[in-house]
Amino acid sequence: MADQGDLSQRARWAGGETLVSLLMARALGNPELVSLAVGFTDQQTLPVGPARAAFEAIWSDPARARAALQYGTTAGYLPLRKILLERMRAADGLTVKQMRATPEQIVVTAGSNELLFLVSDTILDPDDIILCAAPSYYVYLGTLANLGVRAVGVDADEHGMVPEAVEQELIRLRDDEQLHRLKAIYVVSYYDNPCSVTMPAERRAALVDLARRYSDGNRIRIIEDAAYRDLRYWGEDVPSMRSFDPDGTTVITAGSFSKSFSPGVRVGWGLLPPDLVGPVLSLKGNIDFGSPNFNQYLMWSVLEQSLFDEHIEAIQAGYRVKVAAMLDAADELLGPIEGVEWIRPTGGLYVWMRLPEHVDTGLAGALFERSVAEGVLYVPGEYCYPSESRRIPKNMIRLSFGVPSCEDIRRGMEALARAIRHVLD
Ligand SMILES: Cc1ncc(COP(=O)(O)O)c(C=O)c1O
Repeated sequence: MADQGDLSQRARWAGGETLVSLLMARALGNPELVSLAVGFTDQQTLPVGPARAAFEAIWSDPARARAALQYGTTAGYLPLRKILLERMRAADGLTVKQMRATPEQIVVTAGSNELLFLVSDTILDPDDIILCAAPSYYVYLGTLANLGVRAVGVDADEHGMVPEAVEQELIRLRDDEQLHRLKAIYVVSYYDNPCSVTMPAERRAALVDLARRYSDGNRIRIIEDAAYRDLRYWGEDVPSMRSFDPDGTTVITAGSFSKSFSPGVRVGWGLLPPDLVGPVLSLKGNIDFGSPNFNQYLMWSVLEQSLFDEHIEAIQAGYRVKVAAMLDAADELLGPIEGVEWIRPTGGLYVWMRLPEHVDTGLAGALFERSVAEGVLYVPGEYCYPSESRRIPKNMIRLSFGVPSCEDIRRGMEALARAIRHVLD
């Protein structure tokens, strides 16, 4: 075991065990436990048929199969990058001219986490500042900690980050002569993690405008994490933040097929402003000089053969039933408990829940222990707050309906209701 002094600065910034391993450790030894904690995808609807068809199409052409088995390029398989750009353009209803982007601006990565890391490492130095919603995606908060970056929390509501709160923070930083340290604003723009809220168009436009207006000497980028865009169960799609960026120099958009197709294939990508493509590729070149080529061919084949959209409809139908199961159980079992409330998702994988003020949901708190004893795991909400947040509430939890069956969701919610009632008694 390495002594702390033997470790690099970055390893020390990374801290100890991650939340995921802490939760796994608690789950071990209790196979009956229902995990409403991990944000994995539904096992039953994983695309065995479409993946097989895509694979066979590659294998039907030996030259293509050999190419897929070889190293690829650092930026990724060009036909895939072309389709990705085309899909982003079509999703936002833009013409080619309005899109203002070329496939050369797309970089394919092993999941969007890699893209988030590469971009962050490219534009953020230690002690630089990034604004994040309070709460935000906790794995990315870990990435930022690992880079020695200051994650400053901004108030968010059921429509995501509040532009007025962002502007207040920008003014505060300017008054404190810290604005030059601010390099980015991170936004999970669709069905975010942990709240499953989607930012409406007006807020997207307002945030892009703020980032541009307060870029003075330094450039403030918006890192748009669109990992959940396809997981929409009700309501209309909203144009991406990128579509509000007049010249494509402010917004970096990260996309992923992990939630919409397969996390095992783990293909993600980024659409980058032109000036960041070279630096991100240099960094990626030094790390892995390209993500697994075979997986990129597979995703290309899935899209090429139009296997993707049908699959999306199938998973949307499946998750619609699961989220309804979780919300029905919440209404029935938790609704009557005073002080318990939650956001009703129209997409994504999570239900974000507030418990009475004095309930400590943390790993060392009474509720967590009791929940494990009753047979359910959740994510303590405090992990989802940037370290520099005005307030880190202790009474929030994140529940996920992705993995468990409807029966297990019901069992898990019953266990949670028993645990909450127990600690409130
Ligand atoms: C908000 C958000 N962004 C990005 C990711 C990363 O997914 P991947 O790296 O598998 O594309 C996740 C995964 O849970 C997520 O919740």
